[in-house]
Amino acid sequence: MAKDMQIAVVGSGYVGLVAAVCFAEMGHDVICVDNDERKVAALQGGDTLIHEDHLPELLNRYRNTKVRFMTDLAEATRESQAIFIAVGTPQSETGDADLSYVEAVACEIARSINSYKVIVEKSTVPVYTNEWIRKVMERNGVARDLFDVVSNPEFLREGSAVSDFLHPDRIVVGSDTARAAAVLAEVYAPLTTGAYYTNANLIPGVCSVAAPPVLLNTSTKSAEIIKHASNAFLALKISFINAVSNLCEATDANVEQVARGMGLDSRIGPKFLRPGIGYGGSCFPKDVAAFRSVAEQLGIDFSLLTEVEKINESQKKRFLSKVRSALWTLRGKRIGVLGLAFKGETDDIRESPAIDLVEMLLAEGCSVAAYDPAAIKRTEEIMPASTTLRYASSSYDAAQDADALLILTDWQEFATLDLTEMHKALRYPIVIDGRNLYDPSVMLQHGFTYLSVGRPAAH
Ligand code: UGA
Repeated sequence: MAKDMQIAVVGSGYVGLVAAVCFAEMGHDVICVDNDERKVAALQGGDTLIHEDHLPELLNRYRNTKVRFMTDLAEATRESQAIFIAVGTPQSETGDADLSYVEAVACEIARSINSYKVIVEKSTVPVYTNEWIRKVMERNGVARDLFDVVSNPEFLREGSAVSDFLHPDRIVVGSDTARAAAVLAEVYAPLTTGAYYTNANLIPGVCSVAAPPVLLNTSTKSAEIIKHASNAFLALKISFINAVSNLCEATDANVEQVARGMGLDSRIGPKFLRPGIGYGGSCFPKDVAAFRSVAEQLGIDFSLLTEVEKINESQKKRFLSKVRSALWTLRGKRIGVLGLAFKGETDDIRESPAIDLVEMLLAEGCSVAAYDPAAIKRTEEIMPASTTLRYASSSYDAAQDADALLILTDWQEFATLDLTEMHKALRYPIVIDGRNLYDPSVMLQHGFTYLSVGRPAAH
């Protein structure tokens, strides 16, 4: 088995940190670089800084041994064969990805390169980024045979990042030279040969013996497009089912039955057909906008993506109308809110539709008591408690004396509430569920007025 490759990962955010500890778990030696000294110190001390299953365990297993954290990119470059760039590519005002962090890393690598390196784009970047990195290297005087640029997009989801990284559906390697492709094949050999899955020390519940993932070799540009196209397609699937759920509401049909009927067609597949209050997070909104912008710049009509965004926005407003339809007027109403994170099992609130809805409720004059198992601290930083906004200590505390309870994030713990206790806590037993976590007939049996997305109320 290929082992003990020296790898650098630049950036210790979601993708970078997970990649760093998982590469170590696969047997490699890793240097994880971040220019934020406080972050580096926290990681050296074992603090993952993000809420993600199994990450603390892996960090503790490998920190300061097989994964070293440092701020010195020059040293990391000199010591490594492959350098994975996993820095942020935030959305700029025009909708494009802001690639200035990627450029800065490329410049620094160019200054310190001392032997052949494979520079790997791990961050989500638009097509042609590889060519820009190559230009930056050459402009800084680096000989063409000293490096290659490869695109190796990451498909992990927050909340199941470690498991997704170690059990990917596929590994995409976009490379224009056989030499660089061979280095990446060696990096992923523990997974593609299946050797990793026979390791006796696997993380329980995450890594079982699995069919090894396929490694797909493509051109660099194709790999860049695969990442954007995949995220845009998943967002499209969500907007599609959200639009269908609205149609179901208008006709008293049930979107769950419709989604199941569609999903049994293997060409469609059952996943990502859960309707709700719209997609959020640090990826889909940004990547749909960036992909649309790339198409626009190339003169290609991809207005389909504009519709995807429109449906996503209107889904939140539609949910607010549902709240209004249940409560008549909103001014002065007390609302209990369950969920602030953009999805369950994460503390990430970036582009969270739940936060947007809380803001809309406050703007309508409601007072809100909000609870989230992990995201309150982050939310308080952007939305401090006030006379109309209180952060609750539990789901039941959020519901206490409320005129209605809203479920906005699909945390597992919100699906298993004690309904009798919840009924007692609420002033009026009204639950408006933006994530379809409950069976309408069970809610009716418990005496709730229950509204959800795309499903008829039980009678
Ligand atoms: C997404 C992709 O799923 C990953 O493959 C990709 O690697 C990642 O973006 C990225 O580019 O970094 P993530 O943002 O962690 O992962 O979250 P998802 O689980 O995909 O959910 C995104 C949003 O869609 C959430 O707000 C979620 O609630 C919503 N969603 C998802 C639905 O409304 N319905 C569904 O059926 C599925």
